[in-house]
Amino acid sequence: MKKKYTIVTYGCQMNEHDSEKISWILENLGYEWTENKEDSDFIVYNTCLVRENAELKVYGQLGALKDLKRKNPDLILAVCGCMMQREEARRVILDKYRHVDIIFGTNNIHKLPLLIDRHKQTNETVVDIVEDTRDIDDNIEANRKYGFKAFVNIMYGCNNFCTYCIVPYTRGRERSREPESIIKEIEKLAEEGYKEIMLLGQNVNSYGKTLNIEYTFADLLRDINKIQGIKRIRFMTSHPKDLSDELIYAMASLDKVCEQLHLPVQSGSNRILKAMNRKYTREDYLLLIEKIKKAIPDISISTDIIVGFPGETEEDFLDTLDLVKKARFDSAFTFLYSIREGTKAAQMENQVPDDIKHERFQRLLDTIYPIFYEENLKYLNKTVEVLVEEVSKNNDEVLSGRTRTGKLVHFKGSKDLIGKFVNVKITTPKTFTLEGHLI
Ligand code: 5AD
Ligand code: SF4
Repeated sequence: MKKKYTIVTYGCQMNEHDSEKISWILENLGYEWTENKEDSDFIVYNTCLVRENAELKVYGQLGALKDLKRKNPDLILAVCGCMMQREEARRVILDKYRHVDIIFGTNNIHKLPLLIDRHKQTNETVVDIVEDTRDIDDNIEANRKYGFKAFVNIMYGCNNFCTYCIVPYTRGRERSREPESIIKEIEKLAEEGYKEIMLLGQNVNSYGKTLNIEYTFADLLRDINKIQGIKRIRFMTSHPKDLSDELIYAMASLDKVCEQLHLPVQSGSNRILKAMNRKYTREDYLLLIEKIKKAIPDISISTDIIVGFPGETEEDFLDTLDLVKKARFDSAFTFLYSIREGTKAAQMENQVPDDIKHERFQRLLDTIYPIFYEENLKYLNKTVEVLVEEVSKNNDEVLSGRTRTGKLVHFKGSKDLIGKFVNVKITTPKTFTLEGHLI
């Protein structure tokens, strides 16, 4: 009987893609996927550190696995991801969760087979962490979730040091992958039948800065746009300070680059943006949005917003509400500010009390949800191209897929449409999804 593995992934797309790489490695070592922790011979926790609750969840889950380890002493338990890049978190695991067998980081996934061997030989907890993003092996294949859309890393790490954010301390310094290596990976994906590519990086539009040649993110988009078989190109995340005219022009003129942009604003208050070290003002941001919408009229723009950053006053918060009304986002990820030890903001005075954070958070949702709905209403009676992704979880006659603008669409259809492009007429726009029928 084949041995089984499972991976529990927290956090962003970057982590999801790392888990696809870990999955590829484990399958090549003869393991077979299972959903079930109880059946597993190998369990991996790929962790996130961006907010405190993600961190606490991992500790809770690891504690609960003690029993499973007792029942099956051969079970290997590995913990990796951003949390493990922090010495404090590693120490907690080594002190309190001694049943963990392997600890590795975000930059040395390729060493997993070696770490497994080492653990089997010594039966001790093996720890291997690399700080430097230059050690990342670009050539690890990935066991991708879908056969038609794929994540592709184009850069690693982040140099921005937004004052609330732990990422620059965990994922390390920014490094762009060589263009040839990226293009080769995407050409291979195209040959295998992949149609949609999501380019990943903490700050994709600063791509190229660490290369030895003059080559920008727009150049990369132009080169990927030429690859036969690829029909859609998306990317995330973009930083407003690095979104150049060259990039807007490339987005507007390249046919495969989708009309979608994730552009985190974080706050609508200039005072708070400065304290966050974001390097733009609300006026810069709104002008940028106006420019992008003019160049790409049907574009859908999503954002990230943090509520309750240290020192945020009612007036600052009202500025955020005002900005979201002006920017008219299609969707947004909203976060309660979470103290991350080691960041500048963690030391700031005037931390906002929890009840005020929650109250503002609710007012933010009450403001943005109607905007999402009104933006989706624009799709009523329109016919859109949808790449069909899967059968709906609640109803097996209903399929779901995404428009070029990244909107999730539900419609009736048969499963053999999965992975194909279809046209859907939208009949019922909702706040977070669109419903329609095949035409
Ligand atoms: N508290 C709350 N939200 C945060 N983010 C990053 N760090 C924090 C934090 N300390 C959010 C930002 C970022 C997204 C990925 O997570 O909005 O864009
Ligand atoms: Fe964090 Fe800012 Fe870098 Fe994004 S750009 S990963 S928010 S430091």
